[in-house]
Amino acid sequence: MKITSDFLVIGSGIAGLSFALKVADHGTVSIITKREISVTATDLAQGGIASVFSEEDSFDEHVRDTMVAGAFLPHEDVVRMVVEAGPGAIQDLINWGVQFTRKEDGAYDLTREGGHSRRRILHAHDATGREIERALVEAVRSHPNITIYENHAAVDLITEAKVRKRRVQPNRCLGAYVLDVEQGVVLTIGARITILATGGAGKVYLYTCNPDVATGDGVAMAYRAGAAVANMEFMQFHPTTLFHPHAKSFLISEAVRGEGAILRRRDGTAFMESYHQLKDLAPRDIVARAIDNEMKKYGDDCVFLDITHRGPDYIRERFPNIYQTCMSFGIDMTSQPIPVVPAAHYLCGGVRVDLWGESEIRNLFAIGEVSCTGLHGANRLASNSLLEGIVFADRAAERSLVRLSDEPIPYPPIEPWDPGSARNSDEEVVVAHNWDEIRRSMWNYVGIVRSNKRLVRALRRIQMVQEEITDYYWDFYITSDLIELRNITTVAELIVRCALKRHESRGLHYTIDYPKTDDVRWKKDTIVRKTF
Ligand code: SIN
Repeated sequence: MKITSDFLVIGSGIAGLSFALKVADHGTVSIITKREISVTATDLAQGGIASVFSEEDSFDEHVRDTMVAGAFLPHEDVVRMVVEAGPGAIQDLINWGVQFTRKEDGAYDLTREGGHSRRRILHAHDATGREIERALVEAVRSHPNITIYENHAAVDLITEAKVRKRRVQPNRCLGAYVLDVEQGVVLTIGARITILATGGAGKVYLYTCNPDVATGDGVAMAYRAGAAVANMEFMQFHPTTLFHPHAKSFLISEAVRGEGAILRRRDGTAFMESYHQLKDLAPRDIVARAIDNEMKKYGDDCVFLDITHRGPDYIRERFPNIYQTCMSFGIDMTSQPIPVVPAAHYLCGGVRVDLWGESEIRNLFAIGEVSCTGLHGANRLASNSLLEGIVFADRAAERSLVRLSDEPIPYPPIEPWDPGSARNSDEEVVVAHNWDEIRRSMWNYVGIVRSNKRLVRALRRIQMVQEEITDYYWDFYITSDLIELRNITTVAELIVRCALKRHESRGLHYTIDYPKTDDVRWKKDTIVRKTF
């Protein structure tokens, strides 16, 4: 089956949905999403969205905090653009119905997180993403030009080079092949503009606070299609996720530390003072590494986050979601410290894009976590990601509307998906085993502290899985599990290759082989492209 649309949006978090709303009055929009529409990282975002909203704050300070947290790798022009666009972008969210928490006097309640020198984070209690997702889903569902395809997983991008079976310059994106998961058939969706808003790739690691959908699909598809991918070595580990066998790395927001929580050893000693002058509010890479070090040094399975001194009423009112979740696991955060460990949280690298969110493939945009815009550098400043998502959605919308009117060129016909001689698999166990192999290898060998030896070991395992996938992929009907396995394996390879390239330690990439930061040789992005 073939569907055509002016805009194809792959993903349904803040970036994809706000893009759809910005363009929907000018053309038809198809949104495809792998599960139900709200199963996104946006929906799980707790802390909030950073922007200069207070008289005491300034754009310059937000720029400086972003540069410092990013270990001076962020592109300052991009940082400034995003920071200055912040208040307007937040106003868009408010206009779409998002309700941020206010103080008694009616002003927005601004919280703090690691690396911020000011209170500048708007939030909706401790479930900010859920409130944003709610409002955006309501708005897209009621727009007549937007069609939502839930349970549809993108398989591969369709490019002009692929269709014509030769190099073309510029290579344009023409849409995507998409698996209708319930029917088991692959659809062809032709589009004049394709938007990757597929989010991150935390599922590449064994422990992650990301949703199950975070399998790096956009990065993997863009790479396979020939677009440049950058800075994949910078995977951010959130310092504090709940340590409990059944909690699936539930996030304990950094806003808890922003409101005074202290990290302690098992014996109650606070330890961040010996790692950074900002103590518990140091940038995230520093806190995660400190916790990793403490756990190794004392042989502990976790450390403890203590906010009991703020009192039960305040804690229950400010962090209702975290309080209730902890209680469901038998932990009362009003009277006892929360056991926490780091887990994979945010991919700072991704599809390399320009200031308008456009990739190296024409008419293919990447917005939100899937992209590498230059904003985060070597370590993302907390709560800059929702901001980046909405600002770049707006810019991509502006640029693609220009494209739509300037470029009415007819497209070459697209062949339908060819399943070849694929048959039903009777060995799903191979897929399950390989998922585990990738995620465990990445956790053990490509985590918070790295070495060349461990990276090479991981790469060997990844390559073995890749060989099996190639056989499997062509021999059997594709399933969403297989698509995701293929994508996490590609992303794992890209993370390791970028990590092996960077011969220094900077931000989230720390290696014992090159423990120093080397501004002379390495203050630059790591870029990889597929060779055809
Ligand atoms: C958090 O609430 O700690 C997460 C915020 C973020 O990652 O930006």
